[in-house]
Amino acid sequence: MSATGAILLDIRSLELRYGAAVAVRDISLSVKPGQLVAVIGNNGAGKSSLLRGATGLVRPAGGQVFFRGADTTLMPAHRKVRQGLVMVPEGRLLFPDQSVEDNLILGAYAHGGLKGARARQTFERVLTLFPRLKERLAQQAGSMSGGEQQMLAIARALMAEPELLVIDELSLGLAPKIVDQLMGVLAELNEGGLAILLVEQLAAHALAIADHAYVIANGRVVRQGPSTEIARDPEVMESFLGKKKAAS
Ligand SMILES: Nc1ncnc2c1ncn2[C@@H]1O[C@H](COP(=O)(O)OP(=O)(O)O)[C@@H](O)[C@H]1O
Ligand SMILES: [Mg+2]
Repeated sequence: MSATGAILLDIRSLELRYGAAVAVRDISLSVKPGQLVAVIGNNGAGKSSLLRGATGLVRPAGGQVFFRGADTTLMPAHRKVRQGLVMVPEGRLLFPDQSVEDNLILGAYAHGGLKGARARQTFERVLTLFPRLKERLAQQAGSMSGGEQQMLAIARALMAEPELLVIDELSLGLAPKIVDQLMGVLAELNEGGLAILLVEQLAAHALAIADHAYVIANGRVVRQGPSTEIARDPEVMESFLGKKKAAS
């Protein structure tokens, strides 16, 4: 097996462009099985672009993305989902007119919907994790609170049975209490063995539950290390934590 065999996601020197604009210049990042890795950085740093390149939504202009040891640089997103690379996108992107239940079933689409016994089991497990959603299976997704919608977006991603759950801006538009609650759910999922790559503007929240962290600025990694060390780095704290109240 190659040296990358023990690494779940291995991004090497990734470059991403939108036309002439370079959003990701040279980012290398890895996630090991069972790890919770945080990516922090200010608005426009290139975090979402990095995730789009990793998950196959945008074709990289350079570099490579290995997933479970295989080069998946040019693999389209829907195939990566089937391999276990599942993203909760920024802004959640639910089907607002569909019920909670239908949104969950759509999450299992890559595995043929809710037909199999395994998918039914996953459905039950997800509803146990989010009892709130269980009470509201028939409700229109778009009529729920922001926090409930984020729960649904996570639950829908779990329906696809991820090996690596990628989350872009968990906290977007949510009250601090809800953010804490959802961070708790992620920590619980991670304790259960699920690897997570969490992009988050609320650096302190992300660092509190992460094993390892990367700080991104201008499409580059400017710091990386154990999240406890990153959280103690005065420059990081000043640049990112100081701005957290101003972030949307
Ligand atoms: N679809 C797009 N088309 C053109 N430029 C984009 C697009 N998406 C993002 N960008 C630009 O790429 C850079 C990185 O953006 P983004 O990855 O969204 O950062 P972040 O998620 O860290 O806020 C920014 O300069 C942004 O304006
Ligand atoms: Mg973003």
